[in-house]
Amino acid sequence: MTSNSEMERLKRSLPEWVEESRGQAAFGAAASYIPELAKAPNDALGIVVLGRDGDSASAGDTDLAFTLQSISKVFTLILALIDRGEEAVFAKVGMEPSGDNFNSMLKLELVEPGIPFNPLINAGAIVVSSLISGNGPEEKKERILNYFRELTGNDRLGIHSGVYRSESETGHRNRSLAYFLKENGVLDGEVEDVLDVYFHHCAIEVNCAELARMALLIANDGRDPLTGTGILPRRFVQIAKTFMTTCGMYNASGEFAIRAGLPAKSGVSGGILAVVPGRYGIGLVGPALGRKGNSVAGVHLLERMSRAFDWSMF
Ligand code: DON
Repeated sequence: MTSNSEMERLKRSLPEWVEESRGQAAFGAAASYIPELAKAPNDALGIVVLGRDGDSASAGDTDLAFTLQSISKVFTLILALIDRGEEAVFAKVGMEPSGDNFNSMLKLELVEPGIPFNPLINAGAIVVSSLISGNGPEEKKERILNYFRELTGNDRLGIHSGVYRSESETGHRNRSLAYFLKENGVLDGEVEDVLDVYFHHCAIEVNCAELARMALLIANDGRDPLTGTGILPRRFVQIAKTFMTTCGMYNASGEFAIRAGLPAKSGVSGGILAVVPGRYGIGLVGPALGRKGNSVAGVHLLERMSRAFDWSMF
């Protein structure tokens, strides 16, 4: 089957599949530990699948805007790697799945040398935020926002100030992680400044089409397939894609690798960025989260699509 006819099948099948997966939202709930996120419509589900020729298939609530949350961590990692290089970044953050919740501090004390297990859990992403170049938090935040504007092709991309404020006011677990990292000598700079940068990039607001565009860059090894322009270094995209496969869905990463077999990254807003390497970028949102913090309806839909089109990398 040619990829073209596959896209046509996707266009035909997605509306029905989205409606079927939407029912799974009843088994989850929108995140509430960041109070503003609890306002999201629980049973929303939207998806955009973008191909290398610019053709796309979409269905459901694709107009819903949502914040990147942990999805931003894939790209801040790439930016930190561009700024500091592999050696400096991996001196401060590990390469292994943690087996703990995304906001856990357990292993920071238990396992020497007290660096976060990987850059996609909160502790690791906070360290990564501290490694991004810039003169003070305002310049760093501006720089990161401009980077995401380039990745999405939307120069009006902004943050959701309500979510940003809500997390700044209530993010005490992240504060304790950051102070612990500071004590361990892993975090340089002022804790509140680093957290401000971190909360800010988590609150960047996107839609499914923008997420799909970011995903397509990963799928295409950092090059924009339409213009052929290199936007992200191939090696760093390779690193990011590997982390997405081993840690992108937190403690459900192994299960997702078996059931869907695709690099993906979820966020607590219900967004998932998924990649069919060399072929498609996928952006979806479904705010109701399951026990392990991933969109229940979104995971259900991705697993079904992967099975139907035999997308698993493994
Ligand atoms: O730091 C937090 O808790 C959020 N800003 C991001 C966490 C997140 O998205 C984890 N995802 N599943």
